[in-house]
Amino acid sequence: MVHRRTIILGIGGALTLVGAGTAWRVMNTPRTAYAPWQMTPGTDLDPRLDAFRHAILAPNPHNMQPWLIRLIGTDQAELTCDLTRRLPQTDPFDRQIVIGFGCFIELAAIAASRRGMRMEVEAFPDGTGEPRLDARPVARLRFVAQPGLVADPLAALIRDRRSAKVPFDLARPVPAESLVTLGGAASDLIRLDSTRNETEVRALRALATAAFEREARTPRTLGESIDVLRVGSRDIDANPDGIALTGPLFEALSLLGADRVREGARDPQASSTNNQIEKYRQLFAATPSFVWLTGRGNSRSHQLATGRSYARLNLLATQRGLGLHPVSQALQEYPEMASLFAEARRLCRVEADETLQMLARLGYATSVAPAPRWPLEAKLIRA
Ligand SMILES: Cc1cc2nc3c(=O)[nH]c(=O)nc-3n(C[C@H](O)[C@H](O)[C@H](O)COP(=O)(O)O)c2cc1C
Repeated sequence: MVHRRTIILGIGGALTLVGAGTAWRVMNTPRTAYAPWQMTPGTDLDPRLDAFRHAILAPNPHNMQPWLIRLIGTDQAELTCDLTRRLPQTDPFDRQIVIGFGCFIELAAIAASRRGMRMEVEAFPDGTGEPRLDARPVARLRFVAQPGLVADPLAALIRDRRSAKVPFDLARPVPAESLVTLGGAASDLIRLDSTRNETEVRALRALATAAFEREARTPRTLGESIDVLRVGSRDIDANPDGIALTGPLFEALSLLGADRVREGARDPQASSTNNQIEKYRQLFAATPSFVWLTGRGNSRSHQLATGRSYARLNLLATQRGLGLHPVSQALQEYPEMASLFAEARRLCRVEADETLQMLARLGYATSVAPAPRWPLEAKLIRA
């Protein structure tokens, strides 16, 4: 006999759940979406597959995982961008998508070192897509055995790395010597700066909050995030990418159908939008320090180099028990964001010929759950 009851939910108003029997679904968790994090390193005979199994765990914008991988011969591979997985409203020039590819390449190279392989990277071998990417390869990779190569110690941290979208402990400032260690992520092309100064941190928190609200109140940029919301475990297992909403509240909401939830959240003035803005205001307030990456130029090479540095930065932070969380809204190149884009450059003391490529919160966090991933096999293209 079905028992009717009403559960009042914070998002989207009231949802009537029919039947006590639905309670089990509210406790659901995704079954397959996290499996790529559980692979055993070194089990693939082909070292390229081992490297790519690590690389697909790279941080990347909105977790779109735009990479397509074609194996060539016995020692090469070509990376191209799945052009449908870009974010044209918030990333009109594919700058952030290319940074994500840089992260992917760095993790592949780090993992390859554990197999005694050096990974040679030819970036955009057939030329760069400007102002947007096109079907031409992002990189051609060659795996070269190098006897005596020392494995990169960061390889052991790839599966522990997260984007820490959580409040940080304000009672635990980031030690100055940790910031020095993180500076090791910089390269010839990319500079790393950071601040723990209270006045500067306060200004960057306010900037991050204002930029988050600007994006959320702009219908087309909010809509781009809403399109990739994955609501509850079924939706997440079916599409292990985008912005995954987990936990009992979203499992309950998913009973309405993920499409209906997405439609309900599309209004920039909806209570769900207000709730998100408030949640992120609190998150940004719980930030003891910020780091940022700047390049003297904004070529595709600078963007790839930024991704390589950012991946190392994230791993070095992980090694020191620190959480790192990109806050990119103010860095995005669309007209509604222009005034805050200028403010970000001012606060980060970016010079006229430089580009602010990444800005991230840094601090101590409690443990952070992994984000879903498509399995490697879904990203390999044949022939
Ligand atoms: C270029 C770039 C920009 C990003 N910007 C943001 C951001 O503004 N806000 C955010 O919460 N995460 C941001 N991220 C982190 C991604 O959302 C995250 O990497 C992705 O969801 C996968 O999660 P994971 O890093 O924990 O594996 C960014 C990542 C990259 C590479």
